[in-house]
Amino acid sequence: HASSAKAGKTRNIVEKMEEQGKNCIIFYGSQTGTAEDYASRLAKEGKSRFGLETMVADLEEYDFDNLDTIPDDKVVFFVLATYGEGEPTDNAVDFYEFITNEDVNFTEGNEPALGNLNYVTFGLGNNTYEHYNSMVRNVDKALQKLGAHRIGDAGEGDDGAGTMEEDFLAWKEPMWKALAERMGLEEREAVYEPVFSIVEREGLTKESPEVYLGEPNKMHLDGTAKGPFNAHNPYIAPIAQSYELFSVKDRNCLHMDIDISASNLNYQTGDHIAVWPTNPGEEVDRFMNVLGLSEKRHTVVSIKALEPTAKVPFPTPTTYDAIVRYHMEICAPVSRQFLAQLAAFAPDAEARAEMTKLGAEKDYFHEKISLHHLNIARVLDIVGKGQKWTNIPFSAFIEGITKLQPRYYSISSSSLEQPKKISITAVVESTQLPGRDDPFRGVATNYLLALKQKQNGEPEPCPFGLSYELTGPRNKYDGIHIPVHVRHSNFKLPSDPSKPIICIGPGTGVAPMRGFIRERVQQAKNGEKVGKTLLFFGCRKSTEDFMYKNEWQEAKEILGDNFELITAFSREGPKKVYVQHRLKERAEEINQLLEQKAYFYVCGDAANMAREVNTVLGQIISEQRGIPEAKAEEIVKNMRSSNQYQEDVWS
Ligand code: FAD
Ligand code: 2AM
Repeated sequence: HASSAKAGKTRNIVEKMEEQGKNCIIFYGSQTGTAEDYASRLAKEGKSRFGLETMVADLEEYDFDNLDTIPDDKVVFFVLATYGEGEPTDNAVDFYEFITNEDVNFTEGNEPALGNLNYVTFGLGNNTYEHYNSMVRNVDKALQKLGAHRIGDAGEGDDGAGTMEEDFLAWKEPMWKALAERMGLEEREAVYEPVFSIVEREGLTKESPEVYLGEPNKMHLDGTAKGPFNAHNPYIAPIAQSYELFSVKDRNCLHMDIDISASNLNYQTGDHIAVWPTNPGEEVDRFMNVLGLSEKRHTVVSIKALEPTAKVPFPTPTTYDAIVRYHMEICAPVSRQFLAQLAAFAPDAEARAEMTKLGAEKDYFHEKISLHHLNIARVLDIVGKGQKWTNIPFSAFIEGITKLQPRYYSISSSSLEQPKKISITAVVESTQLPGRDDPFRGVATNYLLALKQKQNGEPEPCPFGLSYELTGPRNKYDGIHIPVHVRHSNFKLPSDPSKPIICIGPGTGVAPMRGFIRERVQQAKNGEKVGKTLLFFGCRKSTEDFMYKNEWQEAKEILGDNFELITAFSREGPKKVYVQHRLKERAEEINQLLEQKAYFYVCGDAANMAREVNTVLGQIISEQRGIPEAKAEEIVKNMRSSNQYQEDVWS
């Protein structure tokens, strides 16, 4: 709340609406920026198509006890992502607790409390997780219970099935129809109106001290960056060391140790570290080139919101180059809707027609764009046949492209062993896709790779041909520092080290397990009694991607028979062997350990592995205890709710 309090801004949404003449508030609960993005898109569309006076609002910045005083000629949207194990996003925690509270209290005491409230809601979730879209479902239920009136369906987008964008597009048309009817709105021809003004500053150069070149805020610009370090303020940490855990053909896995000793950052074993990436030079160049901005990339610009409630998502004055390199998710998937919007600015009629078609036809878009993982600049290049798209107002990109997001990594070190050094274990994303000359590459993991190469003075930096401007801004984005912050998690060892633990961590899922096991080794060295520790690790081949092989040997030396590594090499024999197969082979022992209240940890792939492990555990319990599967599943569920079963999974 610090930022709004500091600026003396109101936390009263009704006051804010009146002050700004708004009749449509679009609240978002967002963790990785997608929900925030959808909120902005809805705001824009509501305004341009229906003349609504829209405003986007961060749930964290307002109080909710006066929701009952919002008059019924207004409408409130809730765009809500579900995070992790069915949790609200960080910025929605207070709202969620407030609205789902049995004894929720509003200022007016109306009956029903929210009888005047019109609302629209869309959820962002992932069906590979147990609590699919539970945020939007629970909030919707709570609002219904309070007598609020929902317009349209409670939409749900599914990231797990990869249909988020299409789910959103399919949901919003009938919703707009219902909303227009309810509020008596006339649809009009949408005309693009920029949200931001861009002023080129002739008096300034990129050397001018007040110009931001990637610095996230004023403190960084002044060189006085201090904590608290968080999602708004990264710590630019020195890299202590970095090396490859394995490298085969086009697959590599990195280990990096990040030094936080000169900061007030701290972490606990099992937490996450967020890495703030930089876009690859090659993609920045492509973007500049297709927009005809190459010559002007270092021109200094000041950007202002033309709408009092819109926020410029990065500090200015800055340069086009710095905006694109450090603040925009330019490599991300493009949305159909955005292409349709850009059609109006196409360099010729043919390109305009193609953009319109891509925007309108779901299957065509899928075949031409999604299958090849094309980013916006690649699309414009292809559709425009190499022409420059100089007619697109730069504001359209600030509005239409997500803010470059930090990526999370499960910390793979133990805070007991090294409290001021955080380890990351990451596989570099690189996939050869049909119809492309070059592989698709992940932004953050290739940034980590480039850092590793730079730090180790490797003769041929970036063998994949990505050139990062590692010596960019005056701050420490110099290739041997990395911007990070820590996010605390609930994935935690039992407080009593003598309790047995079972860790399932195939692939990079081994990351937090390494932290756990190093912690147990340290505890043993400190003379504590450490319980049975099982690690199920899976990879392709014992000779290829067997990570931390030597470290497990060392753990064995300290923990003795209390430590056991059980491996599943999936590509060594005629049949695939996975961690869950090994788990099943050990059914009796696993069941006994669980009966001794062993903690059970799963980390890694959410889509398949984590689910299958969950199923297998149910089968083990059912067989070993001679109880029906449904009963065993119930036991697994209870293990989850009592934290005996913990997951740290991603997809
Ligand atoms: P991105 O550039 O973000 O791309 C990621 C994926 O997005 C691509 O594979 C692709 O499917 C899709 N995508 C991106 N751009 C496009 C496009 N233009 N068109 C179509 N699809 C596209 N990873 C680890 O290696 N180790 C860990 O310990 C670890 N821990 C994690 C813990 C948590 C809590 C979470 C949420 C994630 C964790 N991850 C971990 C995953 C990590 O955060 C990153 O998602 C991963 O490293 C990829 O990041 P990237 O920037 O390289 O890839
Ligand atoms: P595969 O790639 O040979 O299929 C780490 O990525 C390991 O997890 C690899 O050995 C991989 O095997 C394996 N893996 C893939 N799918 C899995 C699943 N559904 N359950 C468990 N392990 C899986």
